[in-house]
Amino acid sequence: MDSRVIKLTPAAHKHGNLNLSCCGKDFFPPDVFGGPSKKAGLGVQITLKAEGLPEPVKTDIPIDNKTGKPRWIFRKRKWVKEFVHCYKLRAGNTVIIERLAKRIYEIRPNNNQRISCQANISKTSSDTNLLSPTATGRPGSTLTNQQRFLLDETMTVHDSQFDHSKLDARKLNILNSPKKGGSSTLDSLPYLKELNVKIIENAQPIQFTPNINEHIHRWAPYMQGFSALFVQNILDQYKKVYRTPVILDPFAGCGTVLVQAKLNGFKSIGTELNPLLHFIADTKLNSWDVSPNYLFKTYKEIPKHKTRPAPSFLKSTSQFRPTVLQNLEIINGGIASIPVNTEKQEKVKNLLKLAFSAILVDCSNLKRSPCLGYVRNKVVHKSTPFVLFNQKIQEISDDLRLIQWQYKDFIPTKTKVICSNAMTFKHKNKFHLAITSPPYMNGLDYVMNYKIEMGWLEFVHSQRDLKKIKDEMVVCDNVSKGLIRKFYKSPSTYTNKWIEKIKTDIQKNILRRGAYRRQDMPYIVHKYFDDMYNIMKNVVSSLKSGGRFILVVGDSLIADVYVPTDLLIAKIGLDLGLKIEKIEKARERRSGQIRSYKLRESIITLLKR
Ligand SMILES: C[S@@+](CC[C@H](N)C(=O)[O-])C[C@H]1O[C@@H](n2cnc3c(N)ncnc32)[C@H](O)[C@@H]1O
Repeated sequence: MDSRVIKLTPAAHKHGNLNLSCCGKDFFPPDVFGGPSKKAGLGVQITLKAEGLPEPVKTDIPIDNKTGKPRWIFRKRKWVKEFVHCYKLRAGNTVIIERLAKRIYEIRPNNNQRISCQANISKTSSDTNLLSPTATGRPGSTLTNQQRFLLDETMTVHDSQFDHSKLDARKLNILNSPKKGGSSTLDSLPYLKELNVKIIENAQPIQFTPNINEHIHRWAPYMQGFSALFVQNILDQYKKVYRTPVILDPFAGCGTVLVQAKLNGFKSIGTELNPLLHFIADTKLNSWDVSPNYLFKTYKEIPKHKTRPAPSFLKSTSQFRPTVLQNLEIINGGIASIPVNTEKQEKVKNLLKLAFSAILVDCSNLKRSPCLGYVRNKVVHKSTPFVLFNQKIQEISDDLRLIQWQYKDFIPTKTKVICSNAMTFKHKNKFHLAITSPPYMNGLDYVMNYKIEMGWLEFVHSQRDLKKIKDEMVVCDNVSKGLIRKFYKSPSTYTNKWIEKIKTDIQKNILRRGAYRRQDMPYIVHKYFDDMYNIMKNVVSSLKSGGRFILVVGDSLIADVYVPTDLLIAKIGLDLGLKIEKIEKARERRSGQIRSYKLRESIITLLKR
């Protein structure tokens, strides 16, 4: 990947200016350069993914009014101040900007600079040799927890200025965490030794964000999906091994894998428990023959007088401004009144429902980043529902036109997504490739995060309905206590010595800390791997010999205990008779609790012999 190092100047803190002159014109697409002011016209925007910031930023680069040359700063700059503040960067520090795709860039602090910064400290410190070389060849990576903690304390100048008595227990625990400054790279070593595998560095875009610009994938925004480009890379990688693979995605989500398979003319099947996501995936896969003109005509004819009230079990009146709510009720009522006497009508109605679901959060007082939460000062105009709905229909129509022109031959390709539990659903087919991304352990609540869309589209009618779906899913850390109690009382669960050790360590740390979000965390962790075992077992039984099971997953830090989710999944694969072909590190990320702890996201490739 192409990258550049940018040195920060005082203007980064003051005005959010990142001096891009060192990048050179070739580093950016030529059309990114826009007029001197917004009024003069924007360039074509690029997406910046700044590590640690919740949302990607879309911006162009303005040119200078007088000279007509690039001003070499991004037009949007507020985020730069947040970014430098978040990493406590100063003028003179450097950051790396890396081109991930034509219009997507990642920006992160320069870690080498941090290492040399640590090295400087250790040189002046007489009591510890922090620079001893290690198996990974990185200075400083053999630090004991105590040394790492000392180092962290030295580096974080203001730690010593805190009045610790004013901090609550949670913050104190974070401050005193032995994991500060640590990394999964270091903590994985004993597990890797036992598995006898090495992690290969293979940075690539695995998140959904780039899909917002991709045909079909962009129909419904889905924070937790993964990148279509990543799926395409996998398909390309194995195109000589399996000429026309049949593909399975047990956690289909909004259907990234299945849509991408169909765009290649490959048959595929997926399971997805969330009825809204199942509906989205199904509609994205099975509406390819809808005439864009017919869609547009039906959209134009939607009656405006058939309102349908917002779901009563949701707090719709605080989620939406009254005038916005009224207009959403008009659109929803209009769509509901469309008759479905033919398959054609049903498909169009589904596309309209999908478009409606896709605009709901943008019309609300909430934001998903990635969890659903209220945003202060979000201004939504009463006409926003109509404007966004119209845009979405336009987008879908454009994509249908493209499909019917460029992918016509693949329209009949068989693809199916089943609203079912991947633990229990028995497939009749056998698959060459299973490509998936399971829920992350302390990641997202896939039910609560989509409750608004599920409620409005009437997939659920009460909180109880939501809970019922949630209880069946691979566990997340806000499941009901009752479910976990039931789990640890049941005798037939999968375990291994790593899981047992991790459980004991978490238990000890919860006791040491005196408080933790959930006392039953050890069992939540255990249930996660038990769920994964059951799903993997089911997938393995439907895999052909010579077939591959490819999973993208992130690891976790829980109550100061490192949980090597990727390696545990690989180990489960071994227990199920698969061979670990490779484990690749696709991305580094930071622990949500201990920000200085580096986690990873990995791609695990398992082979059925
Ligand atoms: C990380 S997401 C998958 C995203 C997908 N790869 C995409 O790009 O759209 C995990 C998905 O698994 C689903 N899920 C969780 N437990 C499940 C289960 N037991 N059976 C089927 N689906 C499940 C969740 O609803 C969620 O959509």
